[in-house]
Amino acid sequence: MKTKVIAIANQKGGVGKTTTSVNLSAAIAEAGHPVLLLDLDPQGNASSALGLEVSIDGSLYAAMIGQAPMADLVCKTRLQNLYGIPADLDLAGAEIEVARMEGHLGQLRRVLQPVRDSGKFEFIIMDCPPSLGILMTNALTAADEILIPIQCEYYALEGLGKLVGVMEQIRESGANPTLAMSGLLMTMLDVRTNISAAVVRDVRAHFEEVVFQAAIPRSVRISEAPSFSQTILEYDPKGAGATAYRVLAKEFLDRQQRGISFIGAPQRPEESEI
Ligand SMILES: Nc1ncnc2c1ncn2[C@@H]1O[C@H](COP(=O)(O)OP(=O)(O)O)[C@@H](O)[C@H]1O
Ligand SMILES: [Mg+2]
Repeated sequence: MKTKVIAIANQKGGVGKTTTSVNLSAAIAEAGHPVLLLDLDPQGNASSALGLEVSIDGSLYAAMIGQAPMADLVCKTRLQNLYGIPADLDLAGAEIEVARMEGHLGQLRRVLQPVRDSGKFEFIIMDCPPSLGILMTNALTAADEILIPIQCEYYALEGLGKLVGVMEQIRESGANPTLAMSGLLMTMLDVRTNISAAVVRDVRAHFEEVVFQAAIPRSVRISEAPSFSQTILEYDPKGAGATAYRVLAKEFLDRQQRGISFIGAPQRPEESEI
C-alpha cells in the first residue's frame, strides 16, 4: 500500500489542528483506510484525545533522535484501522537535539521512512505543534501534503502568509521539493454569527477550490469528546460534528483519489479584514 503523509498545520494555536487530526483520522479509518496518527505536539493533546499513553519502551523523542525505531512506537487504538504514535513533554527536548544534527530538516522524514515503507498505513497524519519551530519544519519536510485548518474568526488568515513562505523555503531548499497543499479547512463555523459567515465567504472568494467544501461547525460536543478520551465519532456519532468530519473525510479521500492538491501558494488578500 502506498503511504501518503499529511501534516495538519498552522502555527496559530487553537484553530482546530488537534481536533481535526483526531477526528479526520478517525473518519478516514472508519471509511476503511488504515491511518497512523503521529502526535508531534509535546502537549500530547491528540494522544490523550485517543487515550494513548507513551510506553516505557521509548518515546517519540527517542525516535526523533534516532535512538528507537519509530515503528516500535505504533499503538493500536480502540477504533479499527486507526493507529497512533503518542507524544509527551519529552518531545520538546527534540527541538534542541535535532537542531544540532546535520541535515536536521530531514530528520523526521528519515526516521519515518521505515514506517512508510512498511506499507501498513494508507495515511500518516501528523498533528503539528503551534509554532514554526524544528518539529513543524521537520513535519513539512516529511509530508507529501499540508492541510491547514482556519478558524472562522477575525484575523483568520493572520500568519498564513508566513506559513506559506516557510512551505516555499522548504520546497526551494530541496528538502521537500514536492510539498503540496491538501486544502484549507474552515473550522469552528458558527452559522448564527455574521462574522463566521463573512469569513467563510471571503476565504472562499479568495482561495476558491483550495478550500474544502466541508466545514466544521462549532459544537460543544466536539470540545467535550477529548475529556472522555473519545473521538466525536464515538462520543456523538449522529451529531453535527461527527457528520461534518465524515463529510470532510469523504471529500479528502475524493481529492486523494483524483490526485487533487495545490502547489501554488494562495496569496493573502491585501486589504481584508480576514
Ligand atoms: N468545531 C469545534 N467546536 C467547538 N470547539 C472546538 C472545535 N474545534 C476545536 N474546538 C476546541 O477549541 C480548542 C482548540 O482546538 P484544538 O484542536 O486543540 O486546536 P489546536 O490544535 O490548533 O491548538 C479546544 O479546546 C477544542 O476542544
Ligand atoms: Mg493542538
